[in-house]
Amino acid sequence: MYVLKKYEWGSVFEMMKYHEKGLPFVEWGIKGHNRPWVIANGNFKKGEKVIEVGGAYSALPQYLSDKFNIEAWVMDDFGIESKEDLWSRWGNREELKSKYPSVKYVFERAGEGGNNVPLDYFDCVYTVSTLEHIPWNDMKKVFDHMCKILKPGGRMLHCVDLSIPFGIHKTSDAKGILLGTVGYSLYHKIKESIQSV
Ligand SMILES: C[S@@+](CC[C@H](N)C(=O)[O-])C[C@H]1O[C@@H](n2cnc3c(N)ncnc32)[C@H](O)[C@@H]1O
Repeated sequence: MYVLKKYEWGSVFEMMKYHEKGLPFVEWGIKGHNRPWVIANGNFKKGEKVIEVGGAYSALPQYLSDKFNIEAWVMDDFGIESKEDLWSRWGNREELKSKYPSVKYVFERAGEGGNNVPLDYFDCVYTVSTLEHIPWNDMKKVFDHMCKILKPGGRMLHCVDLSIPFGIHKTSDAKGILLGTVGYSLYHKIKESIQSV
């Protein structure tokens, strides 16, 4: 049985708290909240096995390995086998193994039937900005797979990005540009004021 222990909305204030605490990856944008949130809420302990599903080119798994002395894995095909150019055009997945040498990369997707990620193995399975890209009809098989690689008693953390409705987040739209500009300058104002304290 799985128990939902906590869910919450991300906020700029929370992000600024991470900044105050000196957590890495804080920057203006969704991942600038999500990655420190994983660090702050992951409760990682030495020797644990941790996998980011859809880790893409993120430096977070290497950071977790260095900081908490965990065994870090990434499961992602980087859009190659799935032929999703959006993900493959960001870089060369083959270079990641030397860039982040402590991380074990498996070029497979959750829910797609690959078998190079061990079952009943991980203390923690997490995602950052990935679940919202998985078609709803595939969600069950992706979750089933994530549950199978998780040890009994293991934990999952998921950061899901939700777009603002009515299309006002679109930068081509005047309201979107306004929202973005206000948000960006607010962020820098708060950041400056924290740095000057
Ligand atoms: C927005 S990126 C994730 C960004 C990354 N987590 C970060 O913090 O930079 C989404 C990634 O999810 C991957 N992905 C999509 N479906 C997946 C699945 N079923 N299993 C594993 N990865 C998947 C894509 O290949 C892509 O690299």
